[in-house]
Amino acid sequence: MIIFQKAKIRDAGEIRNLLRKSWFDSYSDFYTDEELDKVTSRWHSVEALKNRLKDNSVFIIIAKDGDKAVGLCDVSFDVSKGKVDIQKLHVSTSHQRQGIGSELNRRAIKTFPEAAVADLEVLKKNYRAISFYKKQGFRKIGEKTFVVEGVKLPCVVMEKSLSI
Ligand SMILES: CC(C)(COP(=O)(O)OP(=O)(O)OC[C@H]1O[C@@H](n2cnc3c(N)ncnc32)[C@H](O)[C@@H]1OP(=O)(O)O)[C@@H](O)C(=O)NCCC(=O)NCCS
Repeated sequence: MIIFQKAKIRDAGEIRNLLRKSWFDSYSDFYTDEELDKVTSRWHSVEALKNRLKDNSVFIIIAKDGDKAVGLCDVSFDVSKGKVDIQKLHVSTSHQRQGIGSELNRRAIKTFPEAAVADLEVLKKNYRAISFYKKQGFRKIGEKTFVVEGVKLPCVVMEKSLSI
């Protein structure tokens, strides 16, 4: 049975491992191992994750199968813009297409009921995730390129209105 729970500081190491594995499993067609290592070492270090877990504007939810984390969603809320930003959403390959990503996304956004809009950036070539987000009601509103340690990450920006 899958259980959803708020991540705690002590989960930082397990979250890092899940994110790193998911990046290598999901993006190895787009990037070399060296490039993936550069990005994931910077963005998913235990220290960076611990700092996010201490931040009150951030909420990280994990999906557990037994005692193993099999998915997570990391969102942050910008009060001034009324916007919730989906920073990370990953489900282990063994557990995909079982509704876990949809549920993580739904629960993470719901944590900030005052949010009027949700947005995210997803790699342009990540057609599977783009299909997933379209199914969740997001639409493309622009493009943005991140550069991490010299690695270019061209992304699509997507947004969804949360007002009924
Ligand atoms: C994108 C991701 C989070 C989706 O998680 P998931 O648990 O597999 O998604 P769900 O089971 O909730 O899927 C809901 C719907 O989204 C769509 N969808 C999900 N995965 C899809 C895929 N690979 N291809 C096309 N559509 C997909 C389908 O319409 C699906 O409904 P269905 O299974 O009834 O057809 C997961 O594939 C993942 O972790 N991918 C690797 C990391 C990643 O790309 N994250 C996004 C970064 S921004």
